[in-house]
Amino acid sequence: MTVGNTVQLSGSAQRANSPDLRKTGIHPDYWYPVAPCKRLKKGKAIGVRFAGDPIVLVRTENDTLFALEDRCAHRQIPLHVGAVKGEHIQCGYHGWTYDATGKCVSVPYLSKDKSLPNGVRSYPCREAYGLIFVYPGDKANLESAIFPNIPTHANPRYKTRYLDRQVHCHYSFMHENLMDMNHQFLHRRLMGSIKTVLMDLRKGKGWIEADFTFARATGKQHIGEKFILRRRSQPGEEVGRDLMTIRTEYPYQTLKFWRAGSEEPSLDLWNVYVPVDREQRINHTFGLMMFRKPSIPGLMNLLWPFIIWFTEAIFAEDRWIVELEQKAFDLQGADWNQEIFPLIQGLRQVLVQQGIPLPS
Ligand code: FES
Ligand SMILES: [Fe+2]
Repeated sequence: MTVGNTVQLSGSAQRANSPDLRKTGIHPDYWYPVAPCKRLKKGKAIGVRFAGDPIVLVRTENDTLFALEDRCAHRQIPLHVGAVKGEHIQCGYHGWTYDATGKCVSVPYLSKDKSLPNGVRSYPCREAYGLIFVYPGDKANLESAIFPNIPTHANPRYKTRYLDRQVHCHYSFMHENLMDMNHQFLHRRLMGSIKTVLMDLRKGKGWIEADFTFARATGKQHIGEKFILRRRSQPGEEVGRDLMTIRTEYPYQTLKFWRAGSEEPSLDLWNVYVPVDREQRINHTFGLMMFRKPSIPGLMNLLWPFIIWFTEAIFAEDRWIVELEQKAFDLQGADWNQEIFPLIQGLRQVLVQQGIPLPS
C-alpha cells in the first residue's frame, strides 16, 4: 500500500519480521578491526569510527599503539588532527596532552598549583593479522571477549589478500549475502551457472554454519574461479565432492573451501563487517582471504592478478546488490523480506539474539 510518498506494509507482515534485524545494532563487547596496521605510521594518529563513535588510533615513535575517544576534553576537537609527542597525543588547538590511558597529563597554560581536568575514554587496542583491533564494549566484559583466532594467516603455504572497504548497508546484509549460496545467480556472468547443494546445517548459541557442495549446470568456467572453486581430477583418481563451509560465529564470519580429497582448505576466508555510522547503515568490511599456494613454486604470483581481478569482480556484484537491499529497506522503513531458506532464517535469529536494539 502507498500512502503519499510512504510505502506501507500491512500490520501482520510487519510483525512477521519483528524485531527488525536491520534496526539491530552490533554488540560492542567484541574485538573489532578498525584499520589496517599499515595505515598508521610511527609518530602519527588517525581517526576511525565504530558505530558512530569517533576513535583516535595513535602510534608513537616507540611503536606503542593506543586508542582514545577522538575528542579533546576541552573543546571537542578531534585529537587525530593534533600531534603525537613522545608517548602522548597533544590536541592541535590549545595543546592539552593525553597519555595512553586517556588521562590529561598537561595543559600548557595551567599553573602548577591547579589540578588537571578530566581526560577522555580509552579503548583496549591491539594489532594482529595486519589489522588494528579495538574493544569498544563494556570493559567489565573484556576478559570474556575472545580474540579472533586465525591460524591460517601465519601459515606460509597461504597467501593473504586483504579486504578493506566501506559498503553502504547494514552489516546483516553482508552476513546474509555470503552465507546464502542460492545467490550464485547474481554471479552468473562470472561463474556460469553453479548449482549449490546444502549438505548440512548446524547451529548453537551465537553461531550457525552450513556445508555446501557444487555442481555446474551450464556456462564456461573462468580461470580465477577454476583456481578458487574447482578441482581438476587427475586420470584414474577418485574424486569426492568439493566442500564449502560457511560459518557465522557472532560477530565474525568464515568461509572455507576444500577441494575434494584435500585435508587443507584451498580458500580460508575470515570477515567482519564493522558498523561505521550510528544508524549502522554503513559497514567497513575487513577480511582476510587466504589462498593456499599451488605446489609449483612461483605459480601463485603468476595467478595472483587473476585472483585479484576475479574476487574484485565478484565483490563488486555483491556490493551492488546489498546496497540495493539497504536502499529498499530505507524506502520501506521496515523489513518486508520473505525469507524462505532455513539457513538464512537461522542466521537472522543469531544476529538478532546477539545484537542490541539501535536507539530509535
Ligand atoms: S580544544 Fe583541545 S586543547 Fe583546546
Ligand atoms: Fe556473492
